[in-house]
Amino acid sequence: VTVLVLAVGGLFAWLWTGADVSTVGKASFDNALAIPPLAESSVDKDGTRVFDLRMRAGETEFEDGLRTPTWGFNGSYLGPTLRAARGEKVRVRIENGLDEASSVHWHGMHLPARMDGGPHQMIEPGGTWTPHWTVDQPAATLWYHPHPHGATERHVRRGLAGMFILDDDRSEELALPKRYGVDDLPVIVQDMRFDGARLDGERRIMQNVGFLGDRTMVNGTLRPYRDVADELIRLRLLNASTARTYAFGFPDGRSFSLTATDGGLLERPAPMDRVQLSPGERAEIVVRMRAGERVMLRSFPQDNYGDGWQRRFGGGDDSFDVLELRAAGELRPSPDLPAALGELETPDGTDAVRGRHFDLKRSGVNGRAMDLGRVDETVTRGTTEVWTVRNGNGMPHNFHVHDVQFRVLEVNGEIPPAALRGPKDTVFLPNGTTMRLALRFSGPADPATPYMYHCHLLYHEDEGMMGQFVVVEKGQQAQAPSGQSGRP
Ligand code: C2O
Ligand code: CU
Repeated sequence: VTVLVLAVGGLFAWLWTGADVSTVGKASFDNALAIPPLAESSVDKDGTRVFDLRMRAGETEFEDGLRTPTWGFNGSYLGPTLRAARGEKVRVRIENGLDEASSVHWHGMHLPARMDGGPHQMIEPGGTWTPHWTVDQPAATLWYHPHPHGATERHVRRGLAGMFILDDDRSEELALPKRYGVDDLPVIVQDMRFDGARLDGERRIMQNVGFLGDRTMVNGTLRPYRDVADELIRLRLLNASTARTYAFGFPDGRSFSLTATDGGLLERPAPMDRVQLSPGERAEIVVRMRAGERVMLRSFPQDNYGDGWQRRFGGGDDSFDVLELRAAGELRPSPDLPAALGELETPDGTDAVRGRHFDLKRSGVNGRAMDLGRVDETVTRGTTEVWTVRNGNGMPHNFHVHDVQFRVLEVNGEIPPAALRGPKDTVFLPNGTTMRLALRFSGPADPATPYMYHCHLLYHEDEGMMGQFVVVEKGQQAQAPSGQSGRP
């Protein structure tokens, strides 16, 4: 009886906590990394750069001979990389070729609320939506993905995501690796789990944080490698996973330079040997290669993830081999990294006109679950605010704000580490974290169309960890968002 009780107890404990996942050293990385193509565009009479995206269902062969049902933009999985420069007018014609409604949100982009692609800008099956705006922010690695209320996790996990790279005069002129797909590589990291040929996941939302896969892929390639032939390689890291947080680095502990965060360049390159990214966050790093070597980009267990059981539930003890870089026997010399990169345009908070508090709970932000018909916060165009965001909820969360790039002023009362000193639109808050953020709302005002703020662990977002804010002119009132409310 004792043995039985122990056995059952052990099994229960194992089921309850799950086992640590590790793919480190377990497989050889022999699949050539896919590089998402740069999206074709045309320039129309008034100088607008025009892109076409079509959301569609298809099949993808992640493993030889296994046909996996997936969704993608212009292809069967993920989407092309859009690219535009500061000052350019862009227009994207999006057609929804799926059999359910979705939307396309420009994560990290400063643009009018009606163009934002959140849950108020749904595209019906067979329908099209054509947002347009002028790019008015620094060079950065942004991305796009659906944002249907209550279904974002499923739509992203099926494959709807892509990169959106912005350039500006400064980024063109700086001596940074910038040949797309050669020494400047998009690295879209996702975790997944297979059930035969199918992507498993819909049945696996049992972890507190949402779906956690047991392997990773980059740009839709499992066990990827990439041949490189330059001394310096720039990796544009995007965590497009729905729930998992990574801590990227290299097994030999080499340091690399962080050059950009979510919204663009840091003031100067920051040397480090790990960079942590929660869902939705980006980092650009530049790593020095040695001739003839093979080096693995790896995700390591994380020491700031939280206390014991949270580490388990959050996957903080998991480790993954992510992407093998294979250096040619002879490398093209790269210029040294510039000592100075950009000037921050994010506000420093000294001109803040007010503060707000956001308490993150799985059940909602500030005790309220998301309601499409309710405007939670009204901000005045042209002003700066300081937002204090706190997670004491016992599990990891993060916090993303639409439309703006903000500055992290403080983390638990301290000056933020280098990795949080650049422009940010998403920040990771392990349990017990309080951050103060400075945000400037530069408009345009639209009292009837909200932007979102939310946890970017997509299961939490779908379950209601989201709120809405509108930008108004001084003295104007928010209006009830028209047309939609409640769950779809
Ligand atoms: Cu990347 Cu509101 O999302
Ligand atoms: Cu969360």
